[in-house]
Order: sequence, then C-alpha cells, then structure tokens
Amino acid sequence: MTIPKELKEMTFEDFCRTVFNPKKRHEKPEVLKGKRGISTTQYILGPSCAAYLAELGAETIKVELPRRGEPMRHTTPFNEPFLYPLSRWMPDKGTGLGFFGANHNEYFITLDFHKPEAIEIMKRLAAKSDFMAENYRAGTFDRWGIGYRQLSEVNPRLIYQWMGGFGGWGPGRNRASYDILGQAQGGCFSVTGLQREFGGLPSKHTIWIMDYWGGAMSAFQILANMWWRDNISGLGNFMEYSQVHGAQRHLSDIIALYGRYGLVAQRWGNWDVLLCVHGIVQCGKSSYPGSKNPQEQEEGYCLISAYEDEDYAALCNMIERHDLAEKYPEHKDRLDPEAQFEIYAAIEEWAADKTKEEVAAICDQYGLIAQPVMNSKEVSTNPHWQERGTLQWIDDPTFGDVFAQVGGYLMSDTPPRCNWVFKPVGADNDYILAKLCGFTGSEIAKLEAEEVI
Ligand SMILES: CC(C)(COP(=O)(O)OP(=O)(O)OC[C@H]1O[C@@H](n2cnc3c(N)ncnc32)[C@H](O)[C@@H]1OP(=O)(O)O)[C@@H](O)C(=O)NCCC(=O)NCCS
Repeated sequence: MTIPKELKEMTFEDFCRTVFNPKKRHEKPEVLKGKRGISTTQYILGPSCAAYLAELGAETIKVELPRRGEPMRHTTPFNEPFLYPLSRWMPDKGTGLGFFGANHNEYFITLDFHKPEAIEIMKRLAAKSDFMAENYRAGTFDRWGIGYRQLSEVNPRLIYQWMGGFGGWGPGRNRASYDILGQAQGGCFSVTGLQREFGGLPSKHTIWIMDYWGGAMSAFQILANMWWRDNISGLGNFMEYSQVHGAQRHLSDIIALYGRYGLVAQRWGNWDVLLCVHGIVQCGKSSYPGSKNPQEQEEGYCLISAYEDEDYAALCNMIERHDLAEKYPEHKDRLDPEAQFEIYAAIEEWAADKTKEEVAAICDQYGLIAQPVMNSKEVSTNPHWQERGTLQWIDDPTFGDVFAQVGGYLMSDTPPRCNWVFKPVGADNDYILAKLCGFTGSEIAKLEAEEVI
C-alpha cells in the first residue's frame, strides 16, 4: 500500500479507522481472487476451512449430496421455512443455523459420488482448481476414485487438504470424529470445567471450537502450500489435518507439565493455575432481574485480572481485605490452591451485592483489568464492535437481512468479506457446470433427471 500524506499525519487510531473502514470493505480487491477451490465438506471442520478462503475471495465450489445437501443444513431447531425457502426439492429444509457462518461466499453444486458421471465431473472440476478441501472418513474419496492420487493425475498442481479425526494411518484411522470427539481425545475436556469442590465435571466447550480451529489451521495449510507451489515447486501437495492432532497442538503448558514433572493437569475451573488473581468471579446481582431468560436472571460473572503484586495489592484494597494482601504478598504465594480458594471467595463475598457491570466499573477505578462475561445479545449490541463492523447486517441475496460474523481479522487493502451467507442445495449447478465443464442446459437437465446432480 502506498501511504498518502494525510494517512501519514493521522493519529494511529484515525489511521486504523480509515484503512480498515468496514463500509469500504466491498470496494476493495479480494486477496485470493483468481484462485479456485472445491469444498467437499460437511459439518463445520471442512466447511469453515473453505469458507475462510472464500471470504478472502477464492472462488469456492461446495459439492453436496443431491437434494438433501450436507447434514449441517439439518442440525438445528431453526429450519425456518418462511424466512428461508430454499432448495426446490425440500423448500422447507436445509436452513439449519449451524450452516450459517461456515459456508460464506460459496457456490453450491450437487454430485452423487456413487455415479460414474459425478466422478468424471469432479475430475473436470479438479483439473481447473487450485485446492480441494475434504473432510470425509479416511479413504472414502480414494474409494470413490477421487482421492488425491487420482485427482493429481488430472491436475498435478492440485493442493488437497484432507481433514479427519485421527489421520490416515494407525489403528484408529477409520473412526468417525466430531468436534466433541476431538476435544475429548485431544485432552481438552480433562482440563475444562469447575473443580471437584464446586461439583464440576470435565466440560465441553459449547461452541464448536475444535472444528473452527481446525478449519483455520487447514486454511493456513492450504495458503502455505499455495505459496510453495506458486513460488517453489510448481506442484500440489497432499495434506492431512487430524482433529485430535490439532487439539493436542494447543494444549499449551499441560504437555510440558507432564513431560517435565510427570504431573497430570487438573481442571481449575474459572481460575488459572499459573496466574492469580486471573479468573472469573461470581457477582451476586443480576443485570437483568426481570428477564425471561433463566440464565440472565442468575448472578452475573466478571473476569478480574490482578496477578502482579502491585495490582493484587490494589485489589485487596478495593475489597478491603488488607489481611489477604499481607498473607499472600508475592505471586508464588497466591498460586497455592488453598490461597486461591481463599482469595476468590473473598472477592465473591465483596461482589455479592453487585452486578457484573458494577464490579467491572469499580475495578476500573482501581486500575485493574476487568470484563463482564458477555452473552450473545451483549456481544451483538456492543458499540465498540458495532462500529468496527465485525458483526454485520448483510443484505443477503437469498435471505434478505442476515446478521453475520465477518472475517475475524482485518486487512487494509484486501479485506475479508461476506457477500452471501449461503445458498440452497445445488443453487449454482447450472452456472458452475456450464462455466467449468461446458455442459449445456439440456445436458444439465439430464444429469438432474438421472440424479447425478
Ligand atoms: C463426519 C463423519 C463422522 C461422517 O461419517 P460417515 O458419513 O459415516 O462417512 P463418510 O464421511 O466417509 O461419508 C461417506 C458417506 O457419505 C454419504 N455422502 C455424503 N455426500 C455424498 C455425496 N456427495 N455423494 C455420495 N455420497 C455422499 C454417503 O452415504 C457415503 O457413504 P457410502 O459411500 O458408504 O454410501 C466422517 O466423515 C468423519 O469422521 N470425518 C472426519 C472428521 C470430521 O470432519 N467430522 C465432522 C466435523 S465435527
């Protein structure tokens, strides 16, 4: 980017506001424009990988089972037939909210891989594509004749990203996997959840974090290898992302803890094993006492971070517990589990007659980092994020007004964007099959009649 004088002279804040202006997002070039990918993906892991690239402008063609589409279209209670009339085969189905957010900007075609014509079409699409993202069971695509080895014969430059649960070899390779399994076998649950003393259990994360994380890692693999192919090798690459392997990669210090001391990390709930005070405390007063939402009627929660000795002293002053400041003056004293039980209990006693916002405001006066734990409504209406356009109302060509997440990061010259959230099953059959495979209208109609598409 060439930086004009007025940008150079701005404050950093104004510079950021100007170059990242979300209102200009759609006027700027797309960084992956000209790249094409096929997404034979289902659920969230594979779809999110492809969607991340489509948000950057790659022409991404999602291939689904004819008529029904992929399972995620049918997995939530919201199959709103009136708001979202979709496929001409099942107009009241296929709009599951789980599908939102994981299939942005894609073209939607259908192919039944049990039919030889569909296999031929896949090969023709692969011949004209830069990458393919796939997350079926180990070996399914090889069995169908469209795995990496077969497709690289028609396109040696194809980058093939396979995402699975346990990888392509080893005794567990054929097992089915889902986000929950990745979290369970990856070790995440064992350290998530409240301590036994609070009746806690190993807990799963409510959002499909291992899927979205895996999608991002896989997109990262594709981009890295696109660079390698285009600048060094000229050839494609076969890549694997295993959900369990990916989970292991972000187990932070607990692997080192085991390796160094043979210690098995324990759940430590809303507190932190390595830092104290650095946790979430219960605030006894609800911010929404009249709410019909039971969770909003409950107490609120607020994160407080005051682990440095000086901040901890300020915290003790704030809650008027000078005895605790004297008892645990140094950080190492506070890491003791018994110290944590005592300190957090004292903070919660102080917070018992306050809302989470009141707790955060008082912490702020004492120069401490604090943040009320926000729910989806609070996230959606937060002025800071609204101004930055991270969550955005989109005038979607199929659905009309849709509130959607966009990107997850910003780029000054080539920002990610959401042009449409998704489309009906097979919505782009005519467009893509004519454009990339040269089929005529009557040939496409025949493929449809024969249930190939
Ligand atoms: C998600 C998962 C458990 C589903 O398992 P599965 O449906 O038993 O097996 P596959 O994924 O290999 O899918 C093959 C089946 O999909 C169906 N199918 C889906 N799309 C199809 C298409 N376009 N054409 C033909 N068949 C299709 C068929 O029934 C096919 O089985 P068949 O050839 O034996 O008739 C499995 O794919 C998996 O573990 N994937 C890796 C981890 C993952 O991504 N999980 C989801 C994210 S949490």
